[in-house]
This record gives sequence, structure tokens and C-alpha cells, in this order.
Amino acid sequence: MTLSHSRKDFPEDFLFGVSTSAYQIEGHQFGGAGSTHWDTFAATPGNVVNAEDGAVACDHYHRWPEDLDLIRDGNFDVYRFSASWARVLPEGRGTPNADGLDYYDRLVDGMLERGIKPALTLYHWELPSALSDRGGWTHPDVAKWFADYATVLMDRIGDRIWSTATINEFWCVSWLSHFLGIHAPGLRDIRAGARAIHNVLKAHGMGIEAMRAAGHDNLGAVFNLEYTMPSENTDEAKRAAATYDAIFNRTFLGAAFHGTYPGEMLAGLEPHLPVGWQDDMATIRQPLDWCGINYYTRKIIKPVPGPFPAHEEIPGPLPKTDMGWEIFPDGLTHFLTHVAKSYSGDLPLYVTENGMAAPDVLDKGAVQDDARITYLDAHLGAVREAIAQGAPVKGYFAWSLLDNYEWALGYGKRFGLVHVDFDSLDRTPKASYQDMARALSRT
Ligand code: NOJ
Repeated sequence: MTLSHSRKDFPEDFLFGVSTSAYQIEGHQFGGAGSTHWDTFAATPGNVVNAEDGAVACDHYHRWPEDLDLIRDGNFDVYRFSASWARVLPEGRGTPNADGLDYYDRLVDGMLERGIKPALTLYHWELPSALSDRGGWTHPDVAKWFADYATVLMDRIGDRIWSTATINEFWCVSWLSHFLGIHAPGLRDIRAGARAIHNVLKAHGMGIEAMRAAGHDNLGAVFNLEYTMPSENTDEAKRAAATYDAIFNRTFLGAAFHGTYPGEMLAGLEPHLPVGWQDDMATIRQPLDWCGINYYTRKIIKPVPGPFPAHEEIPGPLPKTDMGWEIFPDGLTHFLTHVAKSYSGDLPLYVTENGMAAPDVLDKGAVQDDARITYLDAHLGAVREAIAQGAPVKGYFAWSLLDNYEWALGYGKRFGLVHVDFDSLDRTPKASYQDMARALSRT
């Protein structure tokens, strides 16, 4: 099994990369990082499969030179990584952790030495416990705390960063974590959900403002989008799907690019937004330099009786990944063309994440992950189709470089191009990595 698409099928300046995030790979117990709400969430029985946490993860904190070598040898142009707020500021605010700043400094220099562009994400999900204890994303000052953290980190490494994203996946930070209760802090509270939505968007806006004021450029944000379909052809099902699409997709794109919330979202959440929320919309709507899209799947939505949002997901008929997610590459073409048309205009679009979990097995030193190659190939085809239709897509990042900590699902879901043995921490490039390296080779 090999990829049918290769670098030569894309525009000359198109960039290929791999993505990771700090808590999922670094090993949070190392280097003086402060506690985060993922540590405490994982330590609460029932929240995470096997109560696994990111204390050691892939030990990237120590093994980063080997991991950056893998990125270089895989012929990737860009590495999308995140910084841990609590590694930089163990208490969330106040005195920085010198070891933490030194670590990101070394990491960025390590990328540059290998000819890899550093694409930084400021927040990929682990909030310092000191801030979580004060209400975290529901606290009115959290946007200011975030902007201050962005300033401290960018003062140190911003001179060498190629691109910076404020937030990874606004919906997960807010709705999944404060209303659905699946991710830290595990709340199931509509008011907390609404406030977290608004505050994480405001954090994005204030973070962009602070970084612009400090002279940084190539700033953007990363939106996770799911193609949404009604379970049946009825008005009720269509309304349920529209509400899901509003909360999942249009709330965050609409606020960041137009300074507005969709009507379906306001219908359920306006009473729970902070008083005077309208005054923040101009701050949230900042000029951006690029837009990132994480795309994995589609969702089929059916109406259910009961209070807002009165819908639920049902399993669809398409082949699924190990996450139970349907494989639907057409949704990626749809979003790349639709986001450009309705939200981001001519701004460069990047597929900042795409990939699949598979039950990979290491056998005689090799992992033959044909299903992943097929998945990646289909989605690269979907990107080419979007480009052919005129979408300004400038790059594609596979999730992920390494098998890693898949949040509430622990270490059992393997998304890596490189296999990680979580006992020995040995890395073994899978067939997908080898074939990406071939397809991306410039020689
Ligand atoms: C999105 C998230 O950004 C990442 O942290 C996660 O591991 C992947 N999707 C797969 O679920």
C-alpha cells in the first residue's frame, strides 16, 4: 500500500507537516511544570481510561532531538507543536519557570537547525490548576491571563517562530469540557459551557491583540470542524443538525471572523453568556493571517426530546476508524471551500490536523498500517480537490507524529505515523511514515 499523491501534485510552496501537543507527548512531570487540570481530571476515577495521565507520555521532554530527527527525515517542512502554559508559568500567572522557557528555546532552535519551520500553538488543552481552581475558562479574567501568558512565551521564542495559533479546537476547550463533561474540567453545566465558549474566544482575541502589539506576525487559530448531517429528511432532524452545526462549527468561525454568534446558538445559550457579551465581539473579531482547520469525520444528528440542545449523535453507515469516527474525505473538501467563501476569504488555509487511530501492531520491528495510508491518501485527494475548486489551501499537517496520550481515551488509541512502545518508549516508524517520507521527498 502506498500513497497515490505526492509533493509534486501540490503547488510549489505547499507545506507538509506533522502535529503534536505538549501534554500528549512531553511528559508533564519533568522540568518544573505546574499541575494542570488534566492531571487532576485524570486522577479522578472514571474520567480517563485506566486513569492514565500525561506524567510521562512519550517523554518527548528528553527525547525531542530524536523526534525532531524523525520530522526532518520524514521530509516534513513544518512541525506544529504546542507549549504548556503550566510549564511556562507553573501558577498560571506570575513567575515564569526558567527551565520551561529554556526547554522551548532549545526545542525551537532544534527545529531551525534541522530546517523545520516551528508552528506554535499556545493552548492545546492543559490549563494550569491554579487557574482552574479559580474557575478556569469560566472566570471573567481568563482572557487577560491568557494574553499575559502569550506575551511571556512570545517574548522568549517569538523571534524564531514561523506561525502562532492562539487556541487549538475552541469547541473542545469549551463545550466538550464544560457542558458535555468529557474533557477536563469535566463539567456538565450549560452556564459554564456558554461562558467557556465566550471566554475562550475572548482569550483568542486578546492574545492576538497582545502579540500584534509586540510585533509578532503570522497569527491564526485552529478550528475543529465536523460535517453535520440530519438523521432523516424531516424538519425536526434538520433543525437538530443545524443546532449541532451552529454550536460545533459556526459559533467559533462566526465569532472570530464576523464578530457574531449564530441564532441557533443564541437561542439556547444567550441567557448564560456574561452580561455585556456583545461588547467583547469586536475584541474577538481580530484580523488574522491564516486559518487552521482540524478535520477528521462527519456526524449524523438526530433530534431528542428535552432541553437545549435537544440532539444526539447516531452511528453512521460508513467505515470507521478506531475512534468509531466515520471516514468521510468529502467533508474536508467541503470545509476548505466553504470556510474560504463564508469566513476567511483569501487568507491561507491550513489543514492543521488530519489522521486516524488504528489498532496498530508492532510485528518484527514493523507496523504495516495500510488503513492509515489509505485514510491519508483519501484526504490528500480531498485537499487537491479543494485547491482545484479555488480554495487557498497552503498546507497539510498529519495528526500525529507519534502515538500519544489520547486524552480521556488514554494511550490505547494510536494516531502516530511513528509507533511508541509505552513501556520502553522506543519509537518505530510505521509504514505510513516511510511512505510519507517517500511521497514528500524533493529528490
Ligand atoms: C484533535 C486534538 O487537537 C488532538 O489533541 C487529538 O489527539 C486529535 N484530535 C485526535 O482526537
